[in-house]
Amino acid sequence: MEGKLIFTTKEASKFLGISTATIYRMEKKGLISSTRTPGGQRRFSKKSIEKYLRESQNFEAPQNPSRYKKSASSIKESEAVYDIEDKERVVTAKTPQIDELFFHRDSIWIYNADFLRTENIEDNSIDLIVTSPPYNVDIKYNSHDDTMAYEDYLSFTKEWLAKCYKLIKSDGRFCLNIPLDKNKGGQQCVCADITTIAKQVGFKYHSTIIWNEQNISRRTAWGSWLSASAPYVIAPVEVIVILYKKNWKKTSGSGKSDITRKEFMEWTNGVWNFMGESKKRIGHPAPFPVELPKRCIKLFSFVGDTVLDPFLGSGSTLLACLQTERNGIGVEIDKKYCALAEKRLITEGQINQLKLSVPLHVAQES
Ligand SMILES: C[S@@+](CC[C@H](N)C(=O)[O-])C[C@H]1O[C@@H](n2cnc3c(N)ncnc32)[C@H](O)[C@@H]1O
Repeated sequence: MEGKLIFTTKEASKFLGISTATIYRMEKKGLISSTRTPGGQRRFSKKSIEKYLRESQNFEAPQNPSRYKKSASSIKESEAVYDIEDKERVVTAKTPQIDELFFHRDSIWIYNADFLRTENIEDNSIDLIVTSPPYNVDIKYNSHDDTMAYEDYLSFTKEWLAKCYKLIKSDGRFCLNIPLDKNKGGQQCVCADITTIAKQVGFKYHSTIIWNEQNISRRTAWGSWLSASAPYVIAPVEVIVILYKKNWKKTSGSGKSDITRKEFMEWTNGVWNFMGESKKRIGHPAPFPVELPKRCIKLFSFVGDTVLDPFLGSGSTLLACLQTERNGIGVEIDKKYCALAEKRLITEGQINQLKLSVPLHVAQES
């Protein structure tokens, strides 16, 4: 438990040496505070537990406070991060280990967190994941190093894919936007490598959509110009790999689809042609256009489903969720990008004006 910042009820009870029922009673009396996950589960921050312990000296001591004191004092500086309740940075950490609810309105949640570490999303609760992870192509992100050795990049990929697998329902789907291949710094078939890893962690393969971005920058690298000695071949496309957990046939959710006949006919053809998004216009170094998550959402999920983007960036997936009446959860490690996503939801998505009638649909599978 050492170094933990967010606790489930069971963990908090173990930590304090009291029963979960006592925690519920304490919460009811206002002695300890919690936040709720999208699925309604309680989460207790380290700060609220500390506050309880401080104040409890004035009324009723917990059964085993010494256990907590020992652990609390041994929390290392590098493990201390943002606190979920007051949004203040409490200690500067070299590696950000941030875990906080940054924004929540109606059916949209943004967590400013490292996806690998966040505990805010329940297992088996997600209907659809739509995401574009970092591609490891030296993009200058604020908080992520996009220049890992290829082997390290694949290890990172395995870790976050395994987490995605845990979070989706058994009939959950996954639309994974990745490059087809990588040319700089040694040629690699990124799409094949990542798909293999996805299968290793348990995902089943369904199909691949080719996204033709139509914005081919002027080519300068030909390898060997007009010669067969060593020419380069570059496909100016990205892919969206479609995966699922256990059953392709979707049985959970409202059963209500909102895709039109025209959209269905067009989008089930696995070559998609639409423009990429402007980095400058959005203010993020690698956004995808809202059209991409919107198509995935309408094609692969029902109205009222819960969609997750573990690498939220500028919030495009959540904008698509707003447009399509899906619950949306986004996780983003960089606080400035979270703020950008929030701003886009307010300006482009007009979230403040919306009165959404979508029921929360994130309860765990039975
Ligand atoms: C390719 S961008 C996603 C762009 C997004 N689709 C959009 O439309 O703006 C990848 C994002 O992942 C974020 N990121 C990198 N590592 C992360 C991690 N461990 N947890 C959460 N977010 C992370 C980066 O800060 C970056 O914003």
